[in-house]
Amino acid sequence: MHQDISEVLYSEAQIQAKVQELGQQITADYQGKHLLLLGTLKGAVPFIADLARAIELPLELDYMAVASYGNSTHSSGVVRILKDLEGPIDNKHILIIEDIIDSGLTLAYLVDVIRRRNPLSLRICTLLYKERTRLKEVPVDYTGFTIPDKFVVGYGLDYSQYYRNLPYIGILKPSVYEGTEPEEQHSSPAETQAI
Ligand code: PRP
Ligand code: MN
Ligand code: MG
Repeated sequence: MHQDISEVLYSEAQIQAKVQELGQQITADYQGKHLLLLGTLKGAVPFIADLARAIELPLELDYMAVASYGNSTHSSGVVRILKDLEGPIDNKHILIIEDIIDSGLTLAYLVDVIRRRNPLSLRICTLLYKERTRLKEVPVDYTGFTIPDKFVVGYGLDYSQYYRNLPYIGILKPSVYEGTEPEEQHSSPAETQAI
């Protein structure tokens, strides 16, 4: 195990078993439909790569980069599109693939943007769903694991862009990020500005 990880939450085998389960469910639900998996860069890349191969249907892959975090452990509340989809989606069933729903801000923003493009349907699949009070509620259709309110990394999830390549999901030792940002820096812009 990596020295910066205090606990492995889900092993590589546990993740892969869950991905297969989700893939089978999605395969059953989208029979005969024109499916586009919309992956969110960069965190969802390992998940969408494995999930797409667990779905036994013809499908398209495309990606959006919607960033809210910067290089900190809390959401900044600032969401912006860094990369958009390649084409129109009004004749497609869209399934958004996320690695984690934390504050809900990223997904709430994305859902709003995608809905306005009138896809045939829109559903959400997230590998991790954090147990916490959300700043924005988002309806989730497929969930891998519900996790405690700890800072997790691995299998696509980063801290300061690192740890994405760990094959498991683990809790990052607080000593790694303590001292790099003020305590209790939540997403109120006023609070952020005051610091
Ligand atoms: C992370 C994560 C989710 C989002 C969840 O992405 O991958 O997309 O934050 O947080 P939220 O529910 O509080 O909005 P991030 O913005 O860090 O970009 P990344 O995927 O490139 O790491
Ligand atoms: Mn992300
Ligand atoms: Mg990130």
